[in-house]
Amino acid sequence: MSYSQLGLKLKEKFEGKNFLQISDYTQEDLTNLLNYASELKQMQEDNVPHELLKGKTLAMIFEKSSTRTRVSFETGMFQLGGHGMFLSKEDIHLDEAISDTAKVLSRYVDGIMIRTFGHEIVEELAENASIPIINGLTDDSHPCQVLADLLTIYEHKGKFDNLKLAYVGDGNNVSQSLIMGCAIMGIDCHVAVPKNNEIKSTVIEKAQLRAKESGAKVIETNDPLEAVKDADIIYTDVWTSMGWQGDKESRLKEFEGYQVNEALVKHAKDDYIFMHCLPAIRGEEVAEEVIDGENSVVFDQAENRLHVQKAVLATLM
Ligand code: CP
Ligand code: NVA
Repeated sequence: MSYSQLGLKLKEKFEGKNFLQISDYTQEDLTNLLNYASELKQMQEDNVPHELLKGKTLAMIFEKSSTRTRVSFETGMFQLGGHGMFLSKEDIHLDEAISDTAKVLSRYVDGIMIRTFGHEIVEELAENASIPIINGLTDDSHPCQVLADLLTIYEHKGKFDNLKLAYVGDGNNVSQSLIMGCAIMGIDCHVAVPKNNEIKSTVIEKAQLRAKESGAKVIETNDPLEAVKDADIIYTDVWTSMGWQGDKESRLKEFEGYQVNEALVKHAKDDYIFMHCLPAIRGEEVAEEVIDGENSVVFDQAENRLHVQKAVLATLM
């Protein structure tokens, strides 16, 4: 099995490199990666073998729990003819210097995917490893999720320009990567988050710069209704991310009025799509009738994790 023209083009640019954050890529890079993911998705659907990573191993380090990331990476490696090795915090010495872990794993495996807390941990791993490092979520970002989200948007809307995305909820890792991905691809982003839960101002500023290049807008508000008005896409995520420590009751109070429910989504376009990276808490950030309603594409997003990550793996490794 050999690489397609597009696969070769991507490999030429990215082989051996890391996948750490969405802002490292141009609109052309992301377009190529998404198109390559679609090629691999079609091959999988048509049962065409594509064992591009035969004999290769991906170490998958998880300091936080996961359903989608774990299963999609492991399955993706298998479909590519390689092997995904699950390493939870109970399995390996995560109290060892991260630089030592990087150097040791580089002697055994061909790539590392890591889900961890601080972004600096992923960066330190990357600095010390001689193999590609893939960010499987940090407190600051979730680039694999956003690649899957962009593919899902394209599959449902057939374009990236002239679209309005409303993000309603917590200014967290997913939202930070999402607004960057949208800004690069040219999707207008309206972000409604409660006071004290805003997206980092440095991220907003960087996204606004990228949006300028693509002709899009990144607009912050505290009013969910303003964000959702005439939106093509409504996106939310949990109000309490993994690793957050604090008082749940006071947090629920802060997010009052930010639930994506029928009263809110009726202000969007009739053919809006509802998105959520999952896992979701029905009755908190999203009402059951919205996430389980006909405009919801959450399971397409979850499926597309597999296809986009295969494109990333085949390209880097
Ligand atoms: N969306 C996502 O990353 O899900 P998991 O936490 O289940 O991996
Ligand atoms: N913001 C969520 C995303 C989970 C995939 C978290 O970090 O817990």
